[in-house]
Amino acid sequence: QGTESNPTVLVAEKLGEAGLEFLRSFANVDCSYNLSHEELCAKIALCDALIVRSGTKVTREVFKSSAGRLRVVGRAGVGIDNVDLGAATEYGCLVVNAPTANTIAAAEHSISLLGAMARNIAQANASLKQGKWMRSKYVGVSLIGKTIAVMGFGKVGSELARRAKGLGMHVISHDPYASADHARAIGVDLVPFDEAIATADFISLHMPLTPATSKILNDQCFSMMKKGVRIVNVARGAVIDEDALVRALDSGIVAQAALDVFTLEPPLADNKLVLHEKVTVTPHLGASTVEAQEGVAIEIAEAVVGALKGELASTA
Ligand code: MLT
Repeated sequence: QGTESNPTVLVAEKLGEAGLEFLRSFANVDCSYNLSHEELCAKIALCDALIVRSGTKVTREVFKSSAGRLRVVGRAGVGIDNVDLGAATEYGCLVVNAPTANTIAAAEHSISLLGAMARNIAQANASLKQGKWMRSKYVGVSLIGKTIAVMGFGKVGSELARRAKGLGMHVISHDPYASADHARAIGVDLVPFDEAIATADFISLHMPLTPATSKILNDQCFSMMKKGVRIVNVARGAVIDEDALVRALDSGIVAQAALDVFTLEPPLADNKLVLHEKVTVTPHLGASTVEAQEGVAIEIAEAVVGALKGELASTA
Protein backbone atom coordinates (compact mmCIF):
# COMPACT_ATOMS: atom_id res chain seq x y z
CA GLN A 1 0.00 0.00 0.00
CA GLY A 2 2.96 2.34 0.44
CA THR A 3 3.98 4.41 3.42
CA GLU A 4 5.68 7.74 3.96
CA SER A 5 9.10 6.02 3.61
CA ASN A 6 7.96 3.57 0.93
CA PRO A 7 5.53 5.46 -1.27
CA THR A 8 3.41 4.06 -4.09
CA VAL A 9 3.91 5.32 -7.65
CA LEU A 10 1.22 4.56 -10.21
CA VAL A 11 2.69 4.38 -13.73
CA ALA A 12 -0.33 4.76 -16.00
CA GLU A 13 1.42 4.62 -19.38
CA LYS A 14 4.34 2.60 -20.69
CA LEU A 15 7.66 3.71 -19.21
CA GLY A 16 11.18 2.46 -20.07
CA GLU A 17 12.69 -0.28 -17.87
CA ALA A 18 15.61 1.82 -16.56
CA GLY A 19 13.15 4.40 -15.19
CA LEU A 20 11.00 1.68 -13.60
CA GLU A 21 14.07 0.14 -11.96
CA PHE A 22 15.06 3.49 -10.51
CA LEU A 23 11.53 4.00 -9.17
CA ARG A 24 11.47 0.50 -7.65
CA SER A 25 14.61 1.28 -5.64
CA PHE A 26 12.60 3.89 -3.78
CA ALA A 27 8.89 3.08 -4.07
CA ASN A 28 6.21 0.47 -4.71
CA VAL A 29 5.56 0.70 -8.42
CA ASP A 30 2.15 -0.15 -9.84
CA CYS A 31 2.24 -0.30 -13.65
CA SER A 32 -1.40 -0.20 -14.74
CA TYR A 33 -1.71 0.80 -18.37
CA ASN A 34 -4.94 1.58 -20.28
CA LEU A 35 -6.96 2.52 -17.20
CA SER A 36 -10.29 4.19 -17.89
CA HIS A 37 -10.75 7.60 -16.27
CA GLU A 38 -13.02 5.98 -13.66
CA GLU A 39 -10.44 3.27 -12.90
CA LEU A 40 -7.72 5.92 -12.55
CA CYS A 41 -9.89 7.91 -10.12
CA ALA A 42 -10.58 4.75 -8.11
CA LYS A 43 -6.89 3.81 -7.85
CA ILE A 44 -5.45 7.24 -7.21
CA ALA A 45 -6.44 7.40 -3.53
CA LEU A 46 -3.82 4.68 -2.89
CA CYS A 47 -0.99 6.50 -4.67
CA ASP A 48 1.59 9.12 -3.70
CA ALA A 49 2.72 9.77 -7.26
CA LEU A 50 1.35 9.28 -10.75
CA ILE A 51 3.37 9.06 -13.98
CA VAL A 52 1.70 9.60 -17.36
CA ARG A 53 2.60 10.34 -20.99
CA SER A 54 0.21 12.30 -23.21
CA GLY A 55 -2.56 9.68 -23.35
CA THR A 56 -3.92 10.21 -19.82
CA LYS A 57 -5.95 13.25 -18.85
CA VAL A 58 -5.08 14.21 -15.28
CA THR A 59 -8.26 16.11 -14.52
CA ARG A 60 -9.52 17.94 -11.45
CA GLU A 61 -11.51 14.81 -10.65
CA VAL A 62 -8.30 12.78 -10.41
CA PHE A 63 -6.86 15.23 -7.86
CA LYS A 64 -10.15 15.28 -5.95
CA SER A 65 -10.35 11.48 -5.91
CA SER A 66 -6.84 11.23 -4.45
CA ALA A 67 -8.23 12.71 -1.22
CA GLY A 68 -5.00 14.59 -0.56
CA ARG A 69 -2.64 11.62 -0.89
CA LEU A 70 -1.28 12.36 -4.37
CA ARG A 71 1.85 14.48 -3.96
CA VAL A 72 3.44 14.39 -7.42
CA VAL A 73 2.33 14.04 -11.03
CA GLY A 74 5.19 13.19 -13.38
CA ARG A 75 4.69 13.84 -17.08
CA ALA A 76 7.02 11.54 -19.04
CA GLY A 77 7.56 14.07 -21.80
CA VAL A 78 7.56 17.83 -22.25
CA GLY A 79 3.98 19.08 -22.73
CA ILE A 80 1.94 19.30 -19.56
CA ASP A 81 -1.29 20.34 -21.31
CA ASN A 82 -2.94 17.04 -20.29
CA VAL A 83 -2.60 17.93 -16.59
CA ASP A 84 -5.01 20.37 -14.92
CA LEU A 85 -2.36 22.62 -13.40
CA GLY A 86 -4.86 24.83 -11.58
CA ALA A 87 -6.33 21.80 -9.83
CA ALA A 88 -2.83 20.45 -9.06
CA THR A 89 -1.94 23.71 -7.29
CA GLU A 90 -5.24 23.77 -5.43
CA TYR A 91 -4.75 20.22 -4.17
CA GLY A 92 -1.11 20.89 -3.24
CA CYS A 93 0.31 18.48 -5.80
CA LEU A 94 3.64 19.06 -7.61
CA VAL A 95 3.78 18.59 -11.37
CA VAL A 96 7.14 17.67 -12.89
CA ASN A 97 8.07 16.85 -16.48
CA ALA A 98 10.99 15.50 -18.50
CA PRO A 99 11.99 18.59 -20.44
CA THR A 100 15.11 17.49 -22.31
CA ALA A 101 15.31 13.77 -23.11
CA ASN A 102 13.06 13.73 -26.15
CA THR A 103 14.17 17.00 -27.78
CA ILE A 104 16.31 15.38 -30.47
CA ALA A 105 13.72 12.70 -31.20
CA ALA A 106 11.06 15.36 -31.81
CA ALA A 107 13.39 17.43 -34.02
CA GLU A 108 14.38 14.33 -36.01
CA HIS A 109 10.74 13.36 -36.47
CA SER A 110 9.96 16.86 -37.77
CA ILE A 111 12.79 16.62 -40.29
CA SER A 112 11.64 13.13 -41.30
CA LEU A 113 8.09 14.38 -41.87
CA LEU A 114 9.39 17.39 -43.77
CA GLY A 115 11.29 15.19 -46.21
CA ALA A 116 8.57 12.55 -46.41
CA MET A 117 5.96 15.22 -47.18
CA ALA A 118 8.06 17.06 -49.78
CA ARG A 119 8.83 13.80 -51.62
CA ASN A 120 5.41 12.09 -51.19
CA ILE A 121 7.07 9.12 -49.49
CA ALA A 122 3.98 7.83 -47.66
CA GLN A 123 1.66 8.17 -50.66
CA ALA A 124 4.19 6.63 -53.08
CA ASN A 125 4.91 3.80 -50.67
CA ALA A 126 1.19 2.98 -50.35
CA SER A 127 0.73 3.17 -54.12
CA LEU A 128 3.67 0.90 -54.96
CA LYS A 129 2.49 -1.64 -52.39
CA GLN A 130 -0.81 -1.68 -54.28
CA GLY A 131 1.13 -2.72 -57.39
CA LYS A 132 1.21 0.74 -59.05
CA TRP A 133 4.34 2.35 -60.55
CA MET A 134 3.42 6.06 -60.65
CA ARG A 135 6.62 8.07 -61.11
CA SER A 136 5.09 11.24 -62.55
CA LYS A 137 2.28 11.44 -59.99
CA TYR A 138 4.76 11.67 -57.14
CA VAL A 139 7.11 14.41 -58.31
CA GLY A 140 8.08 16.31 -55.16
CA VAL A 141 9.53 19.68 -54.25
CA SER A 142 13.05 20.37 -53.08
CA LEU A 143 14.01 21.81 -49.72
CA ILE A 144 17.26 23.57 -50.62
CA GLY A 145 16.91 27.34 -50.86
CA LYS A 146 13.36 27.31 -49.48
CA THR A 147 12.29 29.37 -46.48
CA ILE A 148 11.11 27.48 -43.42
CA ALA A 149 9.37 29.29 -40.56
CA VAL A 150 10.01 27.59 -37.22
CA MET A 151 7.11 28.65 -35.02
CA GLY A 152 8.41 28.32 -31.47
CA PHE A 153 12.17 28.54 -30.93
CA GLY A 154 12.55 26.48 -27.78
CA LYS A 155 14.56 23.27 -27.45
CA VAL A 156 12.89 21.35 -30.28
CA GLY A 157 12.46 24.38 -32.55
CA SER A 158 16.12 25.30 -32.34
CA GLU A 159 17.28 21.70 -33.00
CA LEU A 160 14.93 21.58 -36.00
CA ALA A 161 16.38 24.90 -37.18
CA ARG A 162 19.96 23.54 -37.04
CA ARG A 163 18.91 20.54 -39.13
CA ALA A 164 17.02 22.66 -41.65
CA LYS A 165 20.11 24.88 -42.04
CA GLY A 166 22.08 21.71 -42.76
CA LEU A 167 19.66 20.98 -45.60
CA GLY A 168 20.38 24.39 -47.14
CA MET A 169 17.09 25.99 -46.10
CA HIS A 170 16.67 29.64 -45.15
CA VAL A 171 15.39 29.52 -41.57
CA ILE A 172 13.25 32.20 -39.96
CA SER A 173 11.46 31.86 -36.65
CA HIS A 174 8.83 33.46 -34.52
CA ASP A 175 8.88 33.08 -30.75
CA PRO A 176 7.97 35.93 -28.41
CA TYR A 177 10.24 34.46 -25.71
CA ALA A 178 13.30 33.49 -27.77
CA SER A 179 16.69 35.02 -27.21
CA ALA A 180 17.97 36.96 -30.23
CA ASP A 181 21.55 35.89 -29.38
CA HIS A 182 20.63 32.21 -29.41
CA ALA A 183 18.84 32.62 -32.76
CA ARG A 184 21.77 34.55 -34.24
CA ALA A 185 24.21 31.86 -33.08
CA ILE A 186 22.26 29.28 -35.10
CA GLY A 187 21.87 31.62 -38.07
CA VAL A 188 18.14 32.12 -37.69
CA ASP A 189 16.24 35.40 -38.18
CA LEU A 190 13.61 36.05 -35.52
CA VAL A 191 10.66 37.77 -37.20
CA PRO A 192 7.13 38.85 -36.22
CA PHE A 193 4.38 36.19 -36.42
CA ASP A 194 2.67 37.66 -39.52
CA GLU A 195 5.95 37.94 -41.41
CA ALA A 196 6.91 34.35 -40.54
CA ILE A 197 3.70 32.80 -41.83
CA ALA A 198 3.41 35.10 -44.85
CA THR A 199 6.91 34.50 -46.23
CA ALA A 200 7.45 30.79 -45.53
CA ASP A 201 7.44 27.97 -48.06
CA PHE A 202 7.36 25.53 -45.13
CA ILE A 203 6.04 26.09 -41.61
CA SER A 204 7.03 23.82 -38.73
CA LEU A 205 5.18 24.17 -35.41
CA HIS A 206 7.05 23.85 -32.12
CA MET A 207 5.09 25.83 -29.57
CA PRO A 208 3.36 24.47 -26.44
CA LEU A 209 -0.44 24.34 -26.33
CA THR A 210 -1.66 27.24 -24.18
CA PRO A 211 -4.74 29.48 -24.34
CA ALA A 212 -2.62 31.89 -26.45
CA THR A 213 -1.56 29.25 -28.99
CA SER A 214 -4.83 27.29 -29.25
CA LYS A 215 -5.96 27.38 -32.93
CA ILE A 216 -3.24 29.91 -33.66
CA LEU A 217 -3.30 28.63 -37.25
CA ASN A 218 -6.86 29.53 -38.21
CA ASP A 219 -8.74 30.70 -41.33
CA GLN A 220 -7.41 34.24 -41.05
CA CYS A 221 -3.88 32.99 -40.63
CA PHE A 222 -4.12 30.56 -43.57
CA SER A 223 -5.38 33.42 -45.76
CA MET A 224 -2.09 35.27 -45.11
CA MET A 225 0.12 32.37 -46.18
CA LYS A 226 1.92 31.93 -49.49
CA LYS A 227 -0.11 29.77 -51.86
CA GLY A 228 1.38 26.27 -51.84
CA VAL A 229 2.85 26.44 -48.33
CA ARG A 230 3.59 23.11 -46.59
CA ILE A 231 3.02 22.58 -42.87
CA VAL A 232 4.56 20.19 -40.33
CA ASN A 233 3.08 19.76 -36.85
CA VAL A 234 4.79 17.68 -34.17
CA ALA A 235 3.73 20.06 -31.36
CA ARG A 236 0.05 19.71 -30.38
CA GLY A 237 -2.93 19.15 -32.68
CA ALA A 238 -5.00 21.92 -31.13
CA VAL A 239 -2.58 24.69 -32.16
CA ILE A 240 -4.20 24.25 -35.58
CA ASP A 241 -7.89 24.85 -36.27
CA GLU A 242 -8.26 21.49 -38.01
CA ASP A 243 -11.41 22.42 -39.98
CA ALA A 244 -9.62 25.54 -41.24
CA LEU A 245 -6.67 23.41 -42.35
CA VAL A 246 -8.99 21.12 -44.33
CA ARG A 247 -10.40 24.23 -46.06
CA ALA A 248 -6.90 25.57 -46.78
CA LEU A 249 -5.82 22.21 -48.25
CA ASP A 250 -8.95 22.02 -50.40
CA SER A 251 -8.53 25.59 -51.67
CA GLY A 252 -4.84 24.99 -52.48
CA ILE A 253 -3.43 27.58 -50.06
CA VAL A 254 -1.76 24.70 -48.25
CA ALA A 255 -0.21 22.25 -50.69
CA GLN A 256 0.55 19.57 -48.13
CA ALA A 257 0.65 18.93 -44.41
CA ALA A 258 2.45 16.39 -42.23
CA LEU A 259 0.83 15.85 -38.86
CA ASP A 260 2.02 13.84 -35.87
CA VAL A 261 -0.54 15.27 -33.45
CA PHE A 262 -4.30 15.83 -33.42
CA THR A 263 -6.80 17.74 -31.34
CA LEU A 264 -8.42 14.44 -30.38
CA GLU A 265 -6.03 11.51 -29.99
CA PRO A 266 -6.51 8.97 -31.34
CA PRO A 267 -8.45 10.79 -34.07
CA LEU A 268 -11.87 9.48 -35.11
CA ALA A 269 -11.94 7.06 -38.05
CA ASP A 270 -13.50 9.71 -40.32
CA ASN A 271 -11.04 12.50 -39.44
CA LYS A 272 -10.78 14.53 -42.65
CA LEU A 273 -7.10 15.37 -42.18
CA VAL A 274 -6.08 11.75 -41.59
CA LEU A 275 -7.95 10.69 -44.73
CA HIS A 276 -6.81 13.66 -46.87
CA GLU A 277 -4.54 12.65 -49.77
CA LYS A 278 -2.35 15.75 -49.29
CA VAL A 279 -1.69 14.90 -45.64
CA THR A 280 0.99 12.58 -44.24
CA VAL A 281 0.21 11.34 -40.75
CA THR A 282 1.89 9.52 -37.86
CA PRO A 283 0.31 8.59 -34.50
CA HIS A 284 2.10 11.00 -32.08
CA LEU A 285 5.51 9.40 -32.62
CA GLY A 286 7.62 12.55 -32.08
CA ALA A 287 9.20 11.27 -28.88
CA SER A 288 9.04 7.62 -29.79
CA THR A 289 12.59 6.46 -30.29
CA VAL A 290 14.24 3.80 -28.17
CA GLU A 291 16.84 6.31 -27.02
CA ALA A 292 14.39 9.10 -26.18
CA GLN A 293 12.04 6.81 -24.26
CA GLU A 294 14.92 5.43 -22.17
CA GLY A 295 16.08 8.98 -21.48
CA VAL A 296 12.58 10.23 -20.66
CA ALA A 297 11.96 7.28 -18.32
CA ILE A 298 15.10 8.02 -16.33
CA GLU A 299 14.53 11.80 -16.38
CA ILE A 300 10.97 11.52 -15.07
CA ALA A 301 11.80 8.78 -12.54
CA GLU A 302 14.53 10.99 -11.05
CA ALA A 303 12.24 14.02 -11.01
CA VAL A 304 9.40 12.11 -9.31
CA VAL A 305 11.69 10.53 -6.71
CA GLY A 306 13.30 13.94 -6.09
CA ALA A 307 9.87 15.49 -5.60
CA LEU A 308 8.73 12.70 -3.26
CA LYS A 309 11.88 13.25 -1.21
CA GLY A 310 11.07 16.95 -1.10
CA GLU A 311 14.13 17.91 -3.14
CA LEU A 312 12.38 19.34 -6.21
CA ALA A 313 10.09 22.22 -6.97
CA SER A 314 7.20 21.96 -9.44
CA THR A 315 8.02 22.61 -13.09
CA ALA A 316 4.43 23.74 -13.63
C1 MLT B 1 5.94 15.48 -25.30
O1 MLT B 1 5.20 16.37 -24.89
O2 MLT B 1 7.00 15.21 -24.72
C2 MLT B 1 5.60 14.70 -26.51
O3 MLT B 1 4.38 15.03 -27.04
C3 MLT B 1 5.82 13.24 -26.35
C4 MLT B 1 4.79 12.45 -25.65
O4 MLT B 1 3.75 12.91 -25.25
O5 MLT B 1 5.03 11.27 -25.47
